[in-house]
Amino acid sequence: MRAQPTHPTVEPPLLEVEHLSTAFRLGQTDALAVNHVSFEIRTGETLALVGESGSGKSVTAFSIMRLVQPPGRIVGGRILFRGRDLLALPEREMRTIRGAGISLIFQEPMSALNPVFTVGSQIAETLQVHGRVRSRRDARQRAIELLAAVSVPQPERRVDEYPHQLSGGLRQRVLIAVAIACRPALLIADEPTTALDATIQAQILELLRELKATFNLALLLITHDLGVVAETADRVAVMYAGRIVEEASVREIFRHPKHPYTQGLLASIPGGHPGSRLRAIDGGVPSLGTIPQGCAFAPRCPYRFEPCPTEVPPPYVVGVEHRARCYLQDPAYAPALSGPGRPGRHSKS
Ligand SMILES: Nc1ncnc2c1ncn2[C@@H]1O[C@H](COP(=O)(O)OP(=O)(O)OP(=O)(O)O)[C@@H](O)[C@H]1O
Ligand SMILES: [Mg+2]
Repeated sequence: MRAQPTHPTVEPPLLEVEHLSTAFRLGQTDALAVNHVSFEIRTGETLALVGESGSGKSVTAFSIMRLVQPPGRIVGGRILFRGRDLLALPEREMRTIRGAGISLIFQEPMSALNPVFTVGSQIAETLQVHGRVRSRRDARQRAIELLAAVSVPQPERRVDEYPHQLSGGLRQRVLIAVAIACRPALLIADEPTTALDATIQAQILELLRELKATFNLALLLITHDLGVVAETADRVAVMYAGRIVEEASVREIFRHPKHPYTQGLLASIPGGHPGSRLRAIDGGVPSLGTIPQGCAFAPRCPYRFEPCPTEVPPPYVVGVEHRARCYLQDPAYAPALSGPGRPGRHSKS
């Protein structure tokens, strides 16, 4: 008998977000802060979610955790974690997923820790809630180990300290210890370094990379900073006015950005190099309720043409695992665009 050809086993994605839509009530209408957002994250992979302030990154993160507070609510889509739709789970089961399946860390380490409890008791609480420890002693010991795992110096002493006794960088490490205490498969880090100075930022990112390798963590890294993206992520999703406008590998995004918004973000890096907070393109992200019809970026786009202000562009496949929602990528418009005085889709930008 002939040997069967061996195929690499294709593992289903850890997280599949499909057409997620989250709305806030504005007057009589629902305004979509997250608008048919779809992406996947595989085990051990880092996806960066990038975009200017107000583009919908945090609402996406909160939606995945099912922590959107009224007047916000998820109005459509599916969020499959290990194949189970989180939006269909009873709240009790969702509480198990939070922490033990998916954890979220925020940009504000000050406010996320409770000032009246010691660091150790906050880590212990998470472990107890998820039934991971047998006794208080056990919990304390695990807390010390976790502090050591996130490179908090003198963990035996720090475990009994209160948040105000720690620097911003150490507080962020403690939050990461809480987040990984129950060994989640996915960590969502919403601007984990914005509140910190540059040296500490670099250390926290280094820690995230280490944890990713040690625990095979998948990471959804929300950031403004393309320098962070270049160093930490495998793939990038660029978000604008509630939609993913471009998605590709880090290498593709930096070498062949297709969407004018992505190109603008990259051009706004001083000296053309990644490393600073984005200040993209003139103008700003439209606020909820004022998001234009058609391509929401059209009013700011130097390349806009006939279809842009009226029709929402579909996600065009522009390369291997590379999609961009931009009519410049539509072959049907290519002849019209290459006329004199028009920014052709083949022009270098
Ligand atoms: N509780 C709320 N009520 C009404 N609108 C909200 C609420 N929370 C967020 N929004 C709106 O939803 C949109 C997306 O907000 P979101 O916080 O997700 O942006 P972001 O990309 O995380 O921005 P930043 O980079 O500043 O954190 C914004 O227009 C914001 O004003
Ligand atoms: Mg945010």
